[in-house]
Amino acid sequence: MRVAMVGTGYVGLVSGTCFAEMGAVVACIDNDAAKIKRLRNGQIPIYEPGLDELVKKNKAAGRLTFHDNIRQGIAGADIVFIAVGTPTGIYEGQTDLSYVYAAAEEIASYLQQGTLVVTKSTVPVKTGERIRKIISKKNKGLKFQVASNPEFLREGCAIKDFLEPDRIIIGVESQTARRKLEKLYAPLLDRNVPILVTDVKTAELTKYAANAFLATKIAFVNEVADLCEKTGANIEDVSAGMGLDHRIGKDYMKPGPGYGGSCFPKDTRSLVYTANKLGAPTHIVATVIEANERRKLNMVDKISEAAQGALRGKKIAVLGLAFKANTDDMRDSSSLVIIPELLKAGAIIRAHDPEAISHARNLLSGNIVWCEDKEAALKGADMAVIITEWKEYAQLDLAATKKLLKKPLIVDLRNLYTLEEMEKAGFTYVSIGRNPVTKIKARK
Ligand code: UGA
Repeated sequence: MRVAMVGTGYVGLVSGTCFAEMGAVVACIDNDAAKIKRLRNGQIPIYEPGLDELVKKNKAAGRLTFHDNIRQGIAGADIVFIAVGTPTGIYEGQTDLSYVYAAAEEIASYLQQGTLVVTKSTVPVKTGERIRKIISKKNKGLKFQVASNPEFLREGCAIKDFLEPDRIIIGVESQTARRKLEKLYAPLLDRNVPILVTDVKTAELTKYAANAFLATKIAFVNEVADLCEKTGANIEDVSAGMGLDHRIGKDYMKPGPGYGGSCFPKDTRSLVYTANKLGAPTHIVATVIEANERRKLNMVDKISEAAQGALRGKKIAVLGLAFKANTDDMRDSSSLVIIPELLKAGAIIRAHDPEAISHARNLLSGNIVWCEDKEAALKGADMAVIITEWKEYAQLDLAATKKLLKKPLIVDLRNLYTLEEMEKAGFTYVSIGRNPVTKIKARK
């Protein structure tokens, strides 16, 4: 199968590489010529574990090429995927589809008869219809089909998610389109990965519904965690107890500082926008968005309370800036809300992240010391705040950490430690939805 992937962002690059790994001949296309040049030289523009090896391997095998010329890239393709960005538009929640439409417009003239055009980008329901119109208008007489094949990979474990997915969703208009996509996915279907074949609109909506549901699960657990803090109950056990019911499931039940990233915040807003526009409001999702935004701010109160209200002049070691571990992505990260508020309250931030510092530097400013390693951040700080669940923060040498900090005070927004180990190590330890380890004395 010959595949063209228009757009080499996160989804495009990972999907293109993985399709090549599955045996297809893939041309990855992007109009950013500098990026294509770097990719040809083996430089990967994103931090994604295992991706560089896979790109190298498939490039060497001749199954993966990179192009900045769209005509050259899509020549001879049986399937053209559109995997360009769909950022938030100018109206609250609306999705900016200009890149998708521009891609449809650009490919229209060069498509061969019978090509299948598939959206991999996350696009609002009914976008496929618009793509069809754009291509038909530009290339009259062309026989082509439009399909939707949403992607469910997570940053940080994108390759595994792509090659070992829970399911494949395809929205098609005909059996021919179905067969083409089934052929492309044959290596996964042979391993009994479930496939759901539906119409284009249903596939488009399934993607948003899935992300919104996962976001809802997280927001729900975060609220229950707040209730645990008020009552002395333990969220880890509540969450485990709920998750053992297979109807609920144990995943996406971890409390934290509020969800972030390039997908949940954007996709929930987009779903609410579309639903309102179509007259079927999604009240639950709207509330989830609100609760999640409030949560990020509430984390500041939590830190402030742990510092007994006195943040002015306090040195705070912030461990973790990315929206989650194993990525350098800062988009909608809780750190982007928490750090500016701490700075406003007069704190001095000593920030560390294993991968995200260079991005964070462009997004945050003020009284921040950017630290090369976690030890430098901790040294002489009045307290440490863990925002991202990087493995290296879950494996701190607690005795050494205690020596580095001015006071043994840790606010852990990811529950990386048990209360017992923190008590044993002699820390005042404030986490999420669990009793604090040392009762914080009321401010005089
Ligand atoms: C998410 C979805 O999980 C993917 O299935 C989807 O393909 C992707 O969006 C997308 O639409 O492209 P991703 O944004 O990479 O993937 O990140 P997740 O691992 O799902 O985490 C999202 C946020 O939820 C993070 O801030 C994370 O820390 C938070 N989270 C996750 C929790 O607070 N608790 C949990 O139990 C799980």
